[in-house]
Amino acid sequence: MKVLKTIKEMQEHARTLILKGKIIGFVPTMGALHEGHLSLVRQARKDNDIVIVSIFVNPIQFGPQEDFARYPRDLEGDSIKLKNEGVDLIFYPDMNDMYPVGYRTFVEVQEISERLCGAFRPGHFRGVATVVTKLFNIIKPHRAYFGLKDYQQTVIIKKMVQDLNMDIEIITCPTVREPDGLAMSSRNLYLKPDERRAATVIYRTLLEAERLMREFRKPEGVKTIMFDRLRSEPLVTSIDYAGLYDPETLEEIKDYSEKEEVLIAIALRIGDTRLIDNMIVKL
Ligand code: PAF
Repeated sequence: MKVLKTIKEMQEHARTLILKGKIIGFVPTMGALHEGHLSLVRQARKDNDIVIVSIFVNPIQFGPQEDFARYPRDLEGDSIKLKNEGVDLIFYPDMNDMYPVGYRTFVEVQEISERLCGAFRPGHFRGVATVVTKLFNIIKPHRAYFGLKDYQQTVIIKKMVQDLNMDIEIITCPTVREPDGLAMSSRNLYLKPDERRAATVIYRTLLEAERLMREFRKPEGVKTIMFDRLRSEPLVTSIDYAGLYDPETLEEIKDYSEKEEVLIAIALRIGDTRLIDNMIVKL
């Protein structure tokens, strides 16, 4: 398994692979890899000749008060996991190579970036869309893999690829959960043992919301019960959002009698740790 650290080397290597007719599958990550990431890598391994994984903690998708500095970093552990999955190459760029002094260009997907997490993390999705565009230009993949745990991110990336005519297939893969239902996330590492136990309230609330929806409750009623359940957990310090949304526009749903699919989504803090999760319900 190769590790390339400069954009120039990566671009040259990608050009050579493409000239040889290789199909490239790409998994962008910020490292601290868990089973969720590895499920994307396994899918990429099945679908493509070459699998490239990037590891880059992207500063421009973190707000000034967010966890950029303490975000878990473990290149050595990540490399072992990726080697075991048969990954061909890790791209591990340096911050100054990605954003040199004088960097001025950003990608913004309007409206859908401002809803849900975007309303609470201004500039976050602009940072994501920008770095993913840069990584796509550097690696030139045929396919790129994203987890549905970050549902809004997948909607934004698909829209960006469509609007900017990027010739890349976006593949989304199901959320991987711990045995008690907690969605896998690198940020779960921040949770103290009692917070880790409390975090199961998120998945339990998603399941209950799904059940209530199927009993034909009105969205407002389901939302109220979701907030009640989440607030009943004393270690939940704040709730950014919880409710039912349109899976494409991400707007809150007022009536789902005509809908085929509904997104149930939650973002909250347990202690200082912000966690998100979601579920798509087919009606
Ligand atoms: O989902 C993530 O880990 C990040 O947002 C991504 C796509 C790697 C961009 O930094």
